[in-house]
Amino acid sequence: MDLRFENLQKAYEGKLVLNLHEGTIKSGSRTAVIGPNGAGKSTLLNLIAGLDTPNAGHIYYSGSLNIPAREITLVFQSPYLISTTVERNIAYPLKLRGWKEDAIQQRVEELCGELNLMEFRRKKAWKLSGGETQKVALARALSFHPKLLLLDEPTANIDPATTGEIEKMLETINQREQTTVVLITHNLAQARRVCDRCLFLKDGELVEEGSAEELLLHPRKALTAKFIAGELLI
Ligand SMILES: Nc1ncnc2c1ncn2[C@@H]1O[C@H](COP(=O)(O)OP(=O)(O)OP(=O)(O)O)[C@@H](O)[C@H]1O
Ligand SMILES: [Mg+2]
Repeated sequence: MDLRFENLQKAYEGKLVLNLHEGTIKSGSRTAVIGPNGAGKSTLLNLIAGLDTPNAGHIYYSGSLNIPAREITLVFQSPYLISTTVERNIAYPLKLRGWKEDAIQQRVEELCGELNLMEFRRKKAWKLSGGETQKVALARALSFHPKLLLLDEPTANIDPATTGEIEKMLETINQREQTTVVLITHNLAQARRVCDRCLFLKDGELVEEGSAEELLLHPRKALTAKFIAGELLI
């Protein structure tokens, strides 16, 4: 699924927090969204997911203004799992979509295998560690083969090994199913490892956009270079 933004604006309490004149996210791409706290990254993701509505402008989903909600999935930094077993959590979106029980079982097993969750399948979700919880949230998000996967700092509190597993899964899914991936991250090394494109937002504006490699290693704008170098942006 490709995305196009046109004069997209969002204000909270009279303050403009997102102001994107235009922008494109290509189908099958992996796009990192980076920028300081309060830059408008989560606001953008929430608008794309349809969790919030813009004050002005449009988002086109493969050319259409209708949000294909059933093909989009969002993974948060602190995901909310339902208070049942791991396998029931992963199966939940499939039940909602009317999948047959044996197809659900097969899909849950596949995902548990790929994310090393087999041993946790029957465990209650509230007994999982943070990293295990995040892997279950990702498995649940991927269960129905979404066309657009939105992730808001999915590995912010996750150890390097589990982060590696999650990053590998993102790559696998993108390559195997051409899923479009949009990843908000403060981990610039992760942005380079996982993504081919990068958007740098500040104060709700798109400062720079380009290939992840180029933008992160050879930024064109002074602001981007400062942010990457870890300088405070005032
Ligand atoms: N529901 C809301 N009500 C009022 N203000 C909001 C709301 N959501 C976001 N904002 C404000 O909008 C601005 C952008 O917030 P946003 O969460 O998009 O930033 P972010 O780039 O995701 O930052 P972070 O890296 O800290 O997660 C901030 O100034 C924030 O205070
Ligand atoms: Mg945020």
